[in-house]
Amino acid sequence: MIRLGVNIDHVATVRQARRGREPDPVWAAVEAQLGGADGITVHLREDRRHIQERDVRLLREIVAVRLNLEMSLAEDIVRFACEVRPDEATLVPERRQELTTEGGLDVVGQEARVQEAVNRLHQCGIIVSLFIEPDVRQIECARLVGADAVEFHTGRYANAPSWQQRQHELEALIQAARRAHDTGLHVHMGHGLNYENVCAIAAIPHVEELNIGHSIVSRAIFVGMRQAVREMKDLLCHVRRLA
Ligand code: PXP
Repeated sequence: MIRLGVNIDHVATVRQARRGREPDPVWAAVEAQLGGADGITVHLREDRRHIQERDVRLLREIVAVRLNLEMSLAEDIVRFACEVRPDEATLVPERRQELTTEGGLDVVGQEARVQEAVNRLHQCGIIVSLFIEPDVRQIECARLVGADAVEFHTGRYANAPSWQQRQHELEALIQAARRAHDTGLHVHMGHGLNYENVCAIAAIPHVEELNIGHSIVSRAIFVGMRQAVREMKDLLCHVRRLA
């Protein structure tokens, strides 16, 4: 069994293009659940470029599966998470100018700050995952600060310029998943995954959750959210049946 977390940020991106009311990410979450999503993921960015506080509050009310809030370590965001209480929080690095989350969180370089956020989220009963690169030092530090899970950044795998490079990145993810699992961490992965490249990732032992956004929302424009999620979910189930 592998959970599919559907990231619906880009439904809000389209809405924010007109600063209007549609399309509503809350509707997208309902459709995604009907398509078989095991979780709904949103990123409340500091610049509020897509998801707004209102969305997270409403999603908290209507999402019947796992609600995962991607968030930075900023004080007001941590306070908001503690108030709204998603099931899970994924701590990510955030830079204002980036198009999307460009790298993993440097847990080693800001251990005390991450530790404090983990403690505060735990006090509110929130499961904490850290979005990191497949790097041994980051895995060890994630364990030290008491994270429940790590989400490995699959961007370098997804964007590899050659087949050899992609295999190299895949191998790094396989090793990292084993390492994290052996240290007692739950293993998630995400970023840049699509209907073509997801199978090799879903086949990695110990991976319990994938968070996928852009490719599902892109397909949903043509086939609808329910169908786009269903197709991704079918792929994951198929891979796990073969494994
Ligand atoms: N996981 C994390 C931590 C992310 O920041 C993102 C992008 O918001 C995703 C998964 C989903 O990435 P994509 O939109 O490329 O599928």
